[in-house]
Amino acid sequence: MSKYSVAIVGATGAVGEKMLNIVEERGFLARSVRLLASERSAGSELKFQDELILVERLDRNSFSGIDFALFSAGAEVSRKYAPLAAAEGAIVIDNRSAFRMEEDVPLVVPEVNPQDLQNHKGIIANPNCSTIQMVVVLKPLYDYSRIKRIVVSTYQSVSGTGWKATKELQRQARAILDSRPAGRPEVYPVQIAFNLIPHIDVFDDKGYTKEEMKMVHETRKIMHDPEIKITATTVRVPVFCAHSEAVNIETEKKITAQKARELLEGAPGVEVMDDFHKGIYPTPIDAEGRDECFVGRIREDDSVPNGLNLWIVADNLRKGAALNAVQIMELLAH
Ligand code: A2P
Repeated sequence: MSKYSVAIVGATGAVGEKMLNIVEERGFLARSVRLLASERSAGSELKFQDELILVERLDRNSFSGIDFALFSAGAEVSRKYAPLAAAEGAIVIDNRSAFRMEEDVPLVVPEVNPQDLQNHKGIIANPNCSTIQMVVVLKPLYDYSRIKRIVVSTYQSVSGTGWKATKELQRQARAILDSRPAGRPEVYPVQIAFNLIPHIDVFDDKGYTKEEMKMVHETRKIMHDPEIKITATTVRVPVFCAHSEAVNIETEKKITAQKARELLEGAPGVEVMDDFHKGIYPTPIDAEGRDECFVGRIREDDSVPNGLNLWIVADNLRKGAALNAVQIMELLAH
């Protein structure tokens, strides 16, 4: 069986470290793993299969002999180094937004559009975390009846912003519980502890954020349906891990709540957790560390002819980022 050389760019970051863990957990056939970061953490070591691997400084020569390069070090780093890696013959799987909407770059969620991998030209994009968990759950419904419109509100954890954001929430929460001032925010525009921030990424001319528009454009591209009407409100919440979403859909054909549960039970990557009689529904704590996209609170929306409400929760660092990238690599390796 073939074995592959894998590079992880941004290996010391929140997503990069998860990528390394998941490559190990899933027993991916790695001949070697190269860990790359900035000069700040070059020289440190990370554990992989009982060995300590040195973190190297990313440079133009980092990709010689590499089969797969997983990038999660910021869009600027991707823009500069992903084409270099691809030119060296590596297949790049990029977790950042740099190439997602480029026409010749497949944007792939393995449970939804694995066929798009056939057309790659060296770079494949991993979608935004909020988009991934939504489309994994909507795909089995869409296959039964086309979805005409999606209204989504997100409740996104701080780990999606990286280690610095996780530390900011810890620091502020500790200070407030000790009756000290929360201190000036450094990562977020305003205090995140015991607060909600309806502002993720930058605003556009119409007042939407880039995160909201990513959900619109990426969903249409992944589902191959440019006509789906989508509107999103994305909110950062003081949760450490796992994103939640309240999703309202309108379908062409009626899907009853019972039918939706049937379609979702056993769908790839989906776990139904839905029994209001017993108070069963997914929360971020249920999803943390898990691979599945959890769905609950499935209800018919009687305010429109064919409406459905869903509550979707997934670990944003795993299925929303690292796991999806490793699954793409697995599909290409076989
Ligand atoms: P470093 O540890 O050297 O700063 P997070 O998303 O958790 O903030 O992590 C970002 C990741 O991207 C880290 O591994 C970080 O490395 C890496 N990174 C950031 N900027 C660069 C850069 N210019 N070159 C290489 N790696 C970078």
